[in-house]
Amino acid sequence: MNDKELFTQNRLFCPGPTPVPDQILTAMSDTSMYHRSDEFYKISRECSAMLAPLFGSKNLPIMLTSSGSGGLEAAVVNLTAPGDKVVVVNGGKFGERWEKLNRGYGCEVSVLNLSWGQSPKASDLLDLIQKQGQTKALFLQANETSTGAYYRIETLVPEIRKNFKGLIIVDCISSLCAHEMRMDDWEIDAVVAGSQKGFGLPPGLAFISLSDRAWGNLSARPRFYFDLARERKGQAEGRSAWTPASTLTLGLHAALKMMNESGLNELYKHHDRMARASRAFAKAIQLKLYCPESPSNSLTTMCMPDGVDGSKVVKELRRRYQAFFAGGQDQLKGKVIRYSHLGFVSVFDLINGLSALEFVLADNGHSFDFGAGVKAAMVELRRNTARP
Ligand SMILES: Cc1ncc(COP(=O)(O)O)c(C=O)c1O
Repeated sequence: MNDKELFTQNRLFCPGPTPVPDQILTAMSDTSMYHRSDEFYKISRECSAMLAPLFGSKNLPIMLTSSGSGGLEAAVVNLTAPGDKVVVVNGGKFGERWEKLNRGYGCEVSVLNLSWGQSPKASDLLDLIQKQGQTKALFLQANETSTGAYYRIETLVPEIRKNFKGLIIVDCISSLCAHEMRMDDWEIDAVVAGSQKGFGLPPGLAFISLSDRAWGNLSARPRFYFDLARERKGQAEGRSAWTPASTLTLGLHAALKMMNESGLNELYKHHDRMARASRAFAKAIQLKLYCPESPSNSLTTMCMPDGVDGSKVVKELRRRYQAFFAGGQDQLKGKVIRYSHLGFVSVFDLINGLSALEFVLADNGHSFDFGAGVKAAMVELRRNTARP
């Protein structure tokens, strides 16, 4: 019997979709709930109320039936008009998506192009905004998932705010739940998130929260499916304009209850601890971090040593252990692997994934002290665990 035959399920260590806990699966098994019923409206309203603190806003977020990109599109179509000048940070595949979306909708786009792995500096963005003139909105990520860089929104945005009064729109699809978001305090106008990331749900829901200022400045652009004003009115009562992904909503309710039980601070601490352990693992087996200055707490991007092909490692992890890591994209293909600890990932899940990686690396020409990575991760986890 080989190792794989012992596994009955895929194990997800990629930055979305993330593992779905049994409590959420059970909640989603009720497929008989009618989405135009008082029972469902109540669940929807409770979801909105429980979601708001994750965005750090007094406003209720809007739930959309779409993947995360639908939430990005909703931000662009509701907050910009054709010809508007916007600035976009492009430090990887998802910055590129903001750029394409804004161009697709006829905005005039200035791009701050970053070398992959880098984070934007407030001064560079303010220079670009000043050069562009009359910038309506700035679009950026919190986490650039293709590189694993976290853009330190908590310091970056307040710094930009000192000299920029336009809209600031942040794609938090892979950062929400792992990194704290306080959109009201940091004066962010729109935050977008997605179900298959920190929420431990399958794909299919996007969330978007707007500031008072953004709600008061919706553009006149024609729109239909993603009409946020229409959704806001209905969702205040738990009604969505279109048929919602009702089973996912039931799962969301369960996920948010689980998060609330532990408390949001514990949730952020957990992700911080998991990320630290993954970084300690990489260091102990001589894998360089791809974004050492500002690594994300959602995923850890590790550089492959010379002579080790990251794409082969990812394939082998899947074939031998049913362990789904993410490889590098575009210029990073074969050069890095991305290990996610986002969502409902326990310390033992983490150790599982890391040990699978050690097995595969050892068989692919990387010479290191076998077991040292897992040990370093365990030591780091223990160091950061409150003991009775
Ligand atoms: C930062 C970021 N933005 C946007 C997306 C796109 O989300 P979706 O694939 O749900 O449309 C992703 C997905 O990985 C992401 O990580």
